[in-house]
Amino acid sequence: MTTACAPGKVILFGEHAVVYGRPAIAVPLCEVEARAEVDELPGAGPGRIRIEAPNVGRAFWLHEAGQEDPLALAVHLALGDPVPPESPALRIRISSTIPVASGLGSGAAVTVALLRALSAHGGRPLAPDRLSALAFEVERLHHGNPSGIDNTVIVYERPVYFRRGHPIESLTVTRPIVLVIAFSGKPSPTATAVAKVRERWQADAHAVEVLFDSIGLLVDRARRLLEGGQTASLGPLMDENHALLSRLGVSTPALDGLVAAARAAGATGAKLSGGGLGGNIIAAAEPDRAEAIASALRAAGAVQTLVTQVNP
Ligand code: PMV
Repeated sequence: MTTACAPGKVILFGEHAVVYGRPAIAVPLCEVEARAEVDELPGAGPGRIRIEAPNVGRAFWLHEAGQEDPLALAVHLALGDPVPPESPALRIRISSTIPVASGLGSGAAVTVALLRALSAHGGRPLAPDRLSALAFEVERLHHGNPSGIDNTVIVYERPVYFRRGHPIESLTVTRPIVLVIAFSGKPSPTATAVAKVRERWQADAHAVEVLFDSIGLLVDRARRLLEGGQTASLGPLMDENHALLSRLGVSTPALDGLVAAARAAGATGAKLSGGGLGGNIIAAAEPDRAEAIASALRAAGAVQTLVTQVNP
């Protein structure tokens, strides 16, 4: 059996504007992960592929999957389309501890784990740049016009300063940052939020571009703070980023409520993270306040919280 994993991710600054060419900063989230296991399937005919994803209640044969199925696309990208008829029958099991449609990169992590496991099982592990490029193809099925930040940070598993169409730039975090992540309990497909921003942009491109520019400047300020070890100053930038995302129309009363609860409990700043319209918020915390902030967030309606540290 061949097993492979991939972490979740959190966008610290710059979501949505990154789709329109501005920079964004994201970090891997190793407390949660997607996992894929690949095994031979004796008894099934050659070329047969069985895919099982019990977390999401799915079990099917590859040849039965529709054209728009992201799992099937990932398998074809790894094995060929069509799968060579003489290749051994396989069973693929996928599991994940990353909440689905929550802004933590679950779709991209499943794809990366699957591509890693299949390519390793075939004896030809994919190099990171190829792996990221293939995962991007699947991201396009998930949400039409992805920036590529999710597949990049998940494949490289390190903090990234990302700009669409540019080579990956690592980001050197010089002091640890403690984050509290709180899931609102409302799943929110990224495609819906990305489409909503697109509608606004189509209605008033100038006004929305101004917001994107403000977000882009803020991302560059955040990068300097992260690299300079001035982590205490990151919180206010998160607040500013959240305000700009609200003006873009991707916050909700529930997300605003969680952001306010985090600040009231002592977070130095907080913002929605990922697509918005549901999903999660992140809060920057002094290490000794993190648990109190997490518990305040649960009291304010978060269904799940997670404390993580981004390390140098
Ligand atoms: O997949 P999510 O919900 O973490 O969102 C990704 C971030 C967006 O900027 C909203 C979309 C993208 O492709 O960059």
